[in-house]
Amino acid sequence: MQKATFPLSEGSIRHFLGDRVPPLDIRTFDLIDSTNTEAKRMVREGGPVPLLIAAAEQSSGRGRMGRSFYSPGETGAYFSILYRPSVQIDSAVTVTCAASVAVLRAIRVLTGRTCGIKWVNDLYLDGRKVCGILTEGISIGSDAYVIVGIGINLSTSFENTELASLAGSLGVGGITPAQMIAEVTAELLPLLNSPEDRSWLADYRRYSNVLGCRISFFEKGTAREGIAEMIDGDGALCVRVESGELIRLFSGEISVKMQ
Ligand code: BTN
Repeated sequence: MQKATFPLSEGSIRHFLGDRVPPLDIRTFDLIDSTNTEAKRMVREGGPVPLLIAAAEQSSGRGRMGRSFYSPGETGAYFSILYRPSVQIDSAVTVTCAASVAVLRAIRVLTGRTCGIKWVNDLYLDGRKVCGILTEGISIGSDAYVIVGIGINLSTSFENTELASLAGSLGVGGITPAQMIAEVTAELLPLLNSPEDRSWLADYRRYSNVLGCRISFFEKGTAREGIAEMIDGDGALCVRVESGELIRLFSGEISVKMQ
């Protein structure tokens, strides 16, 4: 068997993956701007699909809503999975929810700890964000592809950064980026390959830290508030607003109000 190596390499990811997933191309980088951006470049150039791209460090890691994702060297798992949806384009919200569950399960397997999920794409531990997910679609001619980008803070220190009060790390020693990337991939690929099976939604709902909470959000530029009542079969967050109307959110940012 191939020996696990550090820094991040294709061999080390394959070592931890074993034979748990169908054939998958893997590319690793010591440093790249963004694994999502690289996935887009590669698919445009006719690169292999499905593809896992991982980097030890990102110089321009991207988050949702045009934000950046802090990705210092070798302290986090930064990777993207590029694939072709089997039936139709899976909605970004559904794919992101499935990825959240895969990350939650992988973290639980490797650390024994269970995160809370803040709709739609953030995982929290001890009140701090430890993982973010950025799902993007890309069309080339009539072919549609999806890129699921995942960033998990393994041992990143946020001290003296503007994120100090918001972001955290798993804070467990001995887990390498390759190990975490392999574990998430082994959890996620089966979910992506069977889009009609949404049984993972039970875990998404169970570990949601927003259901039942008063939240605020923007709808067409207007600030609104309501109670997060349920997460539907597509992963949309259904919010009961003051008028009694149930609003389905498919994207955007929510804030949980202190009760
Ligand atoms: C968010 O928190 O808004 C989403 C963050 C997603 C970060 C990951 S790290 C790997 C992949 N490459 C990127 O540039 N972004 C995603």
